[in-house]
Amino acid sequence: MIIPINHPIAQIKLSILRNKDTTPDLFRKSLEELSYLFVFYCFEKSEMDPITIYTPLEEATGHKLKEKHIVIPILRAGLGLLPAFTKLIPDIVVGIIGLSRDENTLKPTQYYANLPANLEDFVGIILEPMIATGGSINKAIEILLERKIHKIKVCSIIAFEKSIIELNENYPFVEFFVLSIDKTLNSKGYIVPGLGDAGDRTFGTLINSQIDIKK
Ligand code: URA
Repeated sequence: MIIPINHPIAQIKLSILRNKDTTPDLFRKSLEELSYLFVFYCFEKSEMDPITIYTPLEEATGHKLKEKHIVIPILRAGLGLLPAFTKLIPDIVVGIIGLSRDENTLKPTQYYANLPANLEDFVGIILEPMIATGGSINKAIEILLERKIHKIKVCSIIAFEKSIIELNENYPFVEFFVLSIDKTLNSKGYIVPGLGDAGDRTFGTLINSQIDIKK
């Protein structure tokens, strides 16, 4: 299921991320702020278990999440969306998946995965700011399914239209939260208009000019 995030605050942050003049510092800050919105959307329908707590006055009923969650940033751009998940849900488990993209074939190769064993009962939340060819998300979902995680959510800022439609058809049980669906992918695999290379913009490694990625 594709769940568009049209919240005005999210869209304002997206405009900052898209702007080529946004510095890495402001880019990181805006990604972190967006991570809070993703948490609210991802957990909006989560089931709760009641717990007994004591106020200074008397016994009361509190709540805790019914299910265990693992959040999985895909290296490296996914790290920018991690902060709110660990801050708001301190006992969330963090798994890491490293995928690199072959510049010619645009196909992903897994170079790292660190996920704990026994994840059967977990809800998996994948963090990948950009869904371009869809290869990375496809691979990440396959890794989670191999680990028997069947409740899967994906948090992305921008998705290429054709890829998100295909992913949604292939994995109808996955919830895809996205701020924007852009219509074009250029010959280098960049989403247009997009926001450029999310990893480079987050970590200040944008050595090559923006012109380069527009071709
Ligand atoms: N990855 C990015 O960071 N940006 C794109 O436009 C496509 C893939």
